[in-house]
Amino acid sequence: MLKLDEKRIRKGRPIGLPYQGSKKKISKKIIEIIKQNFGTTKPIYDIFGGGGAITAECILNGLEVYYNDLDKDITNAFERVISQDREWIKTLIISRDEFFEIKAKENKTTDDFLKLLVNSFGNNKLRYLYNKEISDLKYNLAKEIIEKHNVFSGYKQTETYKRSIEKYERLEQLERLEQLEQLQQLQQVDRLQQLQQLNKIKATNKSYHDFSEVSGAILYLDPPYEGTNQDGYINSFDSQEFYDWAFEIAKTNIVIISSYSISDERFEVVYSFDKAHRTIQGGTRNDKCEKLFMVKDISN
Ligand SMILES: C[S@@+](CC[C@H](N)C(=O)[O-])C[C@H]1O[C@@H](n2cnc3c(N)ncnc32)[C@H](O)[C@@H]1O
Repeated sequence: MLKLDEKRIRKGRPIGLPYQGSKKKISKKIIEIIKQNFGTTKPIYDIFGGGGAITAECILNGLEVYYNDLDKDITNAFERVISQDREWIKTLIISRDEFFEIKAKENKTTDDFLKLLVNSFGNNKLRYLYNKEISDLKYNLAKEIIEKHNVFSGYKQTETYKRSIEKYERLEQLERLEQLEQLQQLQQVDRLQQLQQLNKIKATNKSYHDFSEVSGAILYLDPPYEGTNQDGYINSFDSQEFYDWAFEIAKTNIVIISSYSISDERFEVVYSFDKAHRTIQGGTRNDKCEKLFMVKDISN
């Protein structure tokens, strides 16, 4: 098992785009695990980089990182958010009708992509965030809060929200404003801004196969999960082919895979982000917690 001295985890909030399968919740731990077990000198390849949570955490820790994702839309979105300002973030709020108009467009811009991302349920870009009955209400409320009070995450303290919640109990959370807050947090990281201005955040859009020549590096691999619904991702994914590739490249690199479970016996759990979720029966639902896997050590 890998070690983690939790006291050394970076203070401050994690960053990254809201994204299906995002590692934002555990990115600070993952990078600290890498640092404590494998040092800080090797470059890190974030090959399934998605919304950039791992790449951003590497940058904040001063580690050399390569940000890649097969899907150009998501890496473009990450770069776009960093290069824009708060006023631009406000333009990403859209109504249910606009959502479906954009979804039907053949050629989508990066802003279109981001609109679908932050206004969709589970960030899957397919379904609008709120169901039909409540969507107008929530859309208008979010718009009003932004225009009148100019806040994202602090919306629960605004008069407008308090007044509406009294009237319509079902409003509860304004998830979209929380998503916009995440984008703003990305913009507030000075180091990312500097790198962006120097044109130094260079994302690539290759498939993992194209990294077969890499050696002496740390490969952090967060592929679409085995056997899950992969709606919203760019392609269907052959997990077994990926495991074969990961096994080979682990001969010349440190290879760490994020998953809930891996059916290939050549890999073992090296860290479990166990929140000890209890089932009704009282057992630990181990299959549902995020883990890190590596090739089995057969030397002992
Ligand atoms: C679980 S997500 C990664 C999430 C990311 N770590 C984050 O924190 O946002 C999996 C990603 O793999 C990408 N992907 C799918 N097939 C790929 C391939 N063959 N090569 C590289 N990336 C691929 C998808 O576009 C998706 O963004």
